[in-house]
Amino acid sequence: MEIIETIAELRKRLGARRGQGHTVGFVPTMGYLHEGHRSLMERARTENDTVVLSIFVNPLQFGPNEDFDRYPRDKERDVAVAEQAGVDFIFMPTVSEMYPQPVNARVTVTGDVTTKLDAVSRPGHFDGVATVVSKLFHIVQPDRAYFGMKDAQQVAVIRQMVDDLNMNVTIVPCETEREEDGLAKSSRNVYLSPEERAQAVVLSQALAKAKKYALSQSSVTISELKSLLVNHISTAPLARIDYAEALTYPGFREIHTWYPELGTELIIALAVKFGNTRLIDNVILSGN
Ligand code: PAJ
Repeated sequence: MEIIETIAELRKRLGARRGQGHTVGFVPTMGYLHEGHRSLMERARTENDTVVLSIFVNPLQFGPNEDFDRYPRDKERDVAVAEQAGVDFIFMPTVSEMYPQPVNARVTVTGDVTTKLDAVSRPGHFDGVATVVSKLFHIVQPDRAYFGMKDAQQVAVIRQMVDDLNMNVTIVPCETEREEDGLAKSSRNVYLSPEERAQAVVLSQALAKAKKYALSQSSVTISELKSLLVNHISTAPLARIDYAEALTYPGFREIHTWYPELGTELIIALAVKFGNTRLIDNVILSGN
């Protein structure tokens, strides 16, 4: 495994691999790797000849009051995890390598997918994500790119970008990896105090409860689902709800009532704050 810091060097090395007929799988991350990232790398390993992992904490996708400066970083551990997962190249650019001058060209995805949920709570976030992922796709030129469904809205934004801009890459969505009690693995979980960590289990519990209820009915109103989520999360005294929503997936449209038998997919999504730590999670219901 090699660690590469410049765009020019990575292009050269990947060009040589492609010249040998290699397919390239790509896993973009912000580092502080956990089992969720590892599952993406392992899947990429099984499906491609060459695997590239990027580790880049992208300033463009953080709001002014978010955690860019204190985002957890651990290069040594990340390198060990990537090596174990069978990664060939880790691309670890500096901010000035990725953004050498003021950035005047950006990628913006519009429509329902970027006006709901995290787009409301984190203005500019998805423009920052689309811009960096577009740059990374141009640099790596992967055949396949792997994204976690824990960030289902991010997957939808990237898919929209790839479809609309005719990017020649297959987006592979991967299941959410969880702790034993159900908490979705996240680099941000390290911010939680022991009390907050214990209470954070309410996110996955509330989603499981809402899912079970919705699938047991012939129709369910979105307001019923929201009450169920809010009631369960309020059992955790340290939890503050940012949003608790249910929308069509992947369209992110608002509906009044969901009918499982109609076959429309529904995303039930949560963002909950514990102190300054904001956790997200979701489930997608397929209906019958
Ligand atoms: P980051 O939060 O580091 O996540 C990198 C990838 O790992 C994303 O596709 C994310 O959905 C996936 N992931 C995170 N937690 C997961 C879990 N518990 N199970 C499965 N997959 C999980 O998402 C980003 O970075 C950035 O926005 C990025 C796409 C790299 C652009 O900067």
